[in-house]
Parts: sequence; C-alpha cells; structure tokens
Amino acid sequence: MKTLATSSIDRAAREIKSGGIVAFPTETVYGLGANAFDENAVRKIFIAKKRPSDNPLIVHIWNKEQLFDVSSEISPKTLALVERFFPGPLSVLVKKSASIPDIVTAGLPTVSVRMPSSPIALRFLKACGVPVAAPSANLSGKPSSTSWKHVLQDLDGRIPVVLKGPNSKFGLESTVINCTRDPPVILRPGAIPLEEIEKVIGKVVVPVKLRRTLSPGMAHRHYSPKARIVLVDSVNEVPKKLKESAACIGFEECHNADFSAVPENYTEYARILYDFLRTCDERNVKVIYAEKPLDKKGISRALYDRLIRAAAGK
Ligand code: TXA
Ligand code: MG
Repeated sequence: MKTLATSSIDRAAREIKSGGIVAFPTETVYGLGANAFDENAVRKIFIAKKRPSDNPLIVHIWNKEQLFDVSSEISPKTLALVERFFPGPLSVLVKKSASIPDIVTAGLPTVSVRMPSSPIALRFLKACGVPVAAPSANLSGKPSSTSWKHVLQDLDGRIPVVLKGPNSKFGLESTVINCTRDPPVILRPGAIPLEEIEKVIGKVVVPVKLRRTLSPGMAHRHYSPKARIVLVDSVNEVPKKLKESAACIGFEECHNADFSAVPENYTEYARILYDFLRTCDERNVKVIYAEKPLDKKGISRALYDRLIRAAAGK
C-alpha cells in the first residue's frame, strides 16, 4: 500500500468516512484513527500497528456533547473533569454505550474518551463526523510519534493516509483516569499533572504497579528504542571511556557520549524525549544515558514513568 501524506483535512476525513484509517496530529502525540462505530475499520488499526487485541483504544471527540453518544453512564467526578480539562490532554473512562463495538474497548465495559485541544485535530474530527478511536500512531512497543515524519518511519506502506500537521506540543500522551470507581485511579500519568486533577476532584490513587485487569496497555512493552537505556542521577555518571556508541539526555552537555540533548526544563524534556529516542535508533546508538527527574511534580511524573518503562524495555 502506498501511504499518502496530505495537508488536506477533507481528504483525510474522507478516508475515515469510507472505512479507512488515518494518522493525524494531536497536541500530545500523533494518533492512528478509525470510525469508532465501525468494527472493521477499527480492526485495521490493530493490524497496521501490530497492536495486541487486549489493549483498548481511546475514542476522540470534537465537542463535549458527543460524550453522551459513546457512553451510557458518566460519573459526577468525570463530568467535573470534563468541564475543567476538555479540550485537552486528559482521557476519562465512562461506561460504554452499545454503539461502541467490543473491539474498541478490548471487551471492557468502559471506554476511554478524549477531546484534543489541537485545532487541526478538532477540525479533522469534526470533518469525520463520527467519534474516532485512536491509539498512538507508532508500531506497538515503539516510542509514540510526535511528528508526521515519525509516523512514516513506523507506518509507511502500512496505512493509506497521514494528515500532516505541526509537531506535538506536549510530546507525551494524555493522562488516563478512571472515575467510574471511588477513589478514582490514574491509569496512566500524562500531560495533565496529578496536582491539577486533585484540585478538581480531590484525592486520587496512583498505583505503584498497575494490575493488567485495570489498564491492559500498561502491561505491554512500551516506548522502547533499539538501544539500551540507563537511567542516571546526573550526566556526570556517564563513564569516561565508552566501548559502544552512546547518547545522553540531561540538563548538562555530556562530552563522553557521541551526542547529547540538553533540554532547559522538564516540559522541554518531555516534549523532545520520543524524538530523541528515535534519533538514537537512526544513528545506531547502542546505549542511551538519560537523567532521571528529581521529583514527580507536574509533568515529571509522566516523564519518569516513560523513562522507567523505556529503560525496562516493556
Ligand atoms: O495522548 C494520547 O492519549 C494519545 C493520542 C493519540 O490521543 N493516544 C494514546 O493511545 O496514547 P494509546 O492507545 O497509545 O494508549 C491508551 C492507553 C493504553 O494504556 C490503554 O490500555 C489505556 O489507555 N486505556 C484505553 N481504554 C481503556 C479502558 N477502557 N480501560 C483501561 N485502560 C484503557
Ligand atoms: Mg501507545
């Protein structure tokens, strides 16, 4: 299959309306979408990115009212979060409506819903005219794509269309929260910090280790480049004599490594992390030294989570 890279929202939306799949930009990472009501279309996503079928997808909407088309019950705390954070990088769990096929939720009774804030994502979703189920637009297990070029690195020839847009503003995925139970549980730390969520709905639980039954996706291999990742407290820990090609990401330049990325703060660290990991793969780097965040405040919690997973190779 030849992949078309286009800036035409109409062309991309036509693909969705005719039962196809499309990679599209959002403010977190690029998504790979299909009509959420169409089981056959959604199946194509799982095939294209080689995603395990037990990993549920997030459904994307372009206005808050659409939440009622995809859900049969919405808890008061969920509604409070929707009021505060939609549109934006937060995904909320609701009881799914009968119109959402089981393939979207991997058989779970809940569906995760998000309204992106990226203007191009919103225009695309509106043009599609249906809710769009979309995981991140990468091969399963790889770092998510934060640019349309990254999408092509993984999916060229495997998908019909990528909608070209700007690089993702956050560079890390949305926060996923389950408020269908009390106290609510964070299923994936992400671009909306825990502290902001607790200001709206009070205490939430952040499990140290998520059980597979709670959030199937978190049990799979994730965010992994080919290189081995070693987490360090500071770039000074990088050995002087390196036997293999090495790269480094941290708050100081590392002269021992072949090349390094030096973000100015944690927001920038989060934004460039996946791009950096992909660059390392392109340059055939064998080991990556990555500086750990000092704490888990704000975006650092999600950044820490992704670094740990990438380093564990799962
Ligand atoms: O920022 C994002 O969330 C991006 C953009 C494209 O919106 N999407 C994304 O999707 O990261 P994905 O499929 O790569 O990650 C979705 C995560 C997975 O860990 C999945 O297991 C979890 O959300 N999830 C989705 N629906 C769920 C459900 N009903 N119950 C529990 N976990 C769910
Ligand atoms: Mg993903």
